[in-house]
Amino acid sequence: MLSNKSITSLSTALLLLINVATEQGGALAQSIPSLRDAFKNDFGIGTALNNAQIEERDPQTTEFIARQFNMATPENIMKSALIHPKWDTYNFELADKLVEFGKKHKIKINGHTLIWHSQLPMFIRGIKSQDSIRTFFTDHIKTVAGRYDGKILSWDVVNEALNEDGTMRKTVFLQQLGDDYVTEAFRLAQQAAPKTELYYNDYNNEQPAKRAGCIALIKKIQAAGVRIDGVGIQGHWHVGNVPFKDIEESIVQYGALGLKVMFTELDIEVLPRNFQGAEVSQRMTANAESNPYTNGLPDTVQQQLAADYEALFKLFLKHKDKVTRVTFWGVNDGQSWLNNWPVRGRTNYPLLFDRNNQPKPAFYKVLAASK
Ligand code: G3I
Repeated sequence: MLSNKSITSLSTALLLLINVATEQGGALAQSIPSLRDAFKNDFGIGTALNNAQIEERDPQTTEFIARQFNMATPENIMKSALIHPKWDTYNFELADKLVEFGKKHKIKINGHTLIWHSQLPMFIRGIKSQDSIRTFFTDHIKTVAGRYDGKILSWDVVNEALNEDGTMRKTVFLQQLGDDYVTEAFRLAQQAAPKTELYYNDYNNEQPAKRAGCIALIKKIQAAGVRIDGVGIQGHWHVGNVPFKDIEESIVQYGALGLKVMFTELDIEVLPRNFQGAEVSQRMTANAESNPYTNGLPDTVQQQLAADYEALFKLFLKHKDKVTRVTFWGVNDGQSWLNNWPVRGRTNYPLLFDRNNQPKPAFYKVLAASK
């Protein structure tokens, strides 16, 4: 039997141990080299932030983010369903917090996104009239882009307007407002946010057919005398199958249009999937083979992931005169949307930091590429 005194001493010792471990956690975070510093003369290093991170619920996570990244994109909270939930109601609370977060930690914010066919407010479904869609479209851009002008660096003005073959995706905006709606969105954003950079953002727009559609779309905006400052290639790729040649050609071709080129949602899928891209409505049925790495990533895959990231960053550096930002779609593997898409509840490993914010071999390869 332990005496009361022994129990008290044991508890004190335990508390001490916990304190030391926590302090070491902070110190460990400080001992990890910083990506934002490593690439400070090349391009911005960004991350997607979720609600908990924007609200700074965990101080160690905040410290970690501020040390590693100098740009951030909200993963969800600036999408229209969240920021404009009812016809005449906007909810700016978390977006305002994000702006404060950016100021406090010297992180520039990329607004994501003004016009997207997905994550639209529920009330849009009930609207059948062209006039009402136009009113929503105009008011939304004016109000949201206007509020943050001068407070954020940039907007993804339109997201994912293209099909894989380069034709225009049949969205509610295309159907109700016609072919020129993308140009119109940029015109409205330019008026509402003269101090904010304006981008078009998509996935697979490094693939030749979709890229051709993207270039045509950009030229149309430019021909109308409307400002577009950059193009975002989301960069949702697969391990061992990153399309380096298409990526390089895209950097060169988009750059030739006078635009900044950004990699805006970078992650590299390591789990089995029978299609590419990031079409959120696409799903896959779970089976015995769909979640193979619940106990850790095999070394061969880990090394391939590291090699892919290394080659990617070497390519980005080669074209750093055009590439202005590389944003990862999440801080660490635990946060990634790829744990729940296209199959829910998988254990994925697409980023540079593991579930405890510890650097993976890919992190060190990327860091070495910066030297
Ligand atoms: O907030 C609700 C929560 O209340 C509810 O209990 C829970 C139940 O499923 O859902 C939560 O919402 C989820 C939301 O993420 C916040 O976590 C949605 O279901 C889920 O669909 C949503 O997924 C987001 C997805 O966009 C939706 O389209 C991902 O987080 C986000 O990473 C992803 O981001 C997109 C980019 O914006 C555009 N490019 C593709 C990229 C990946 O899909």
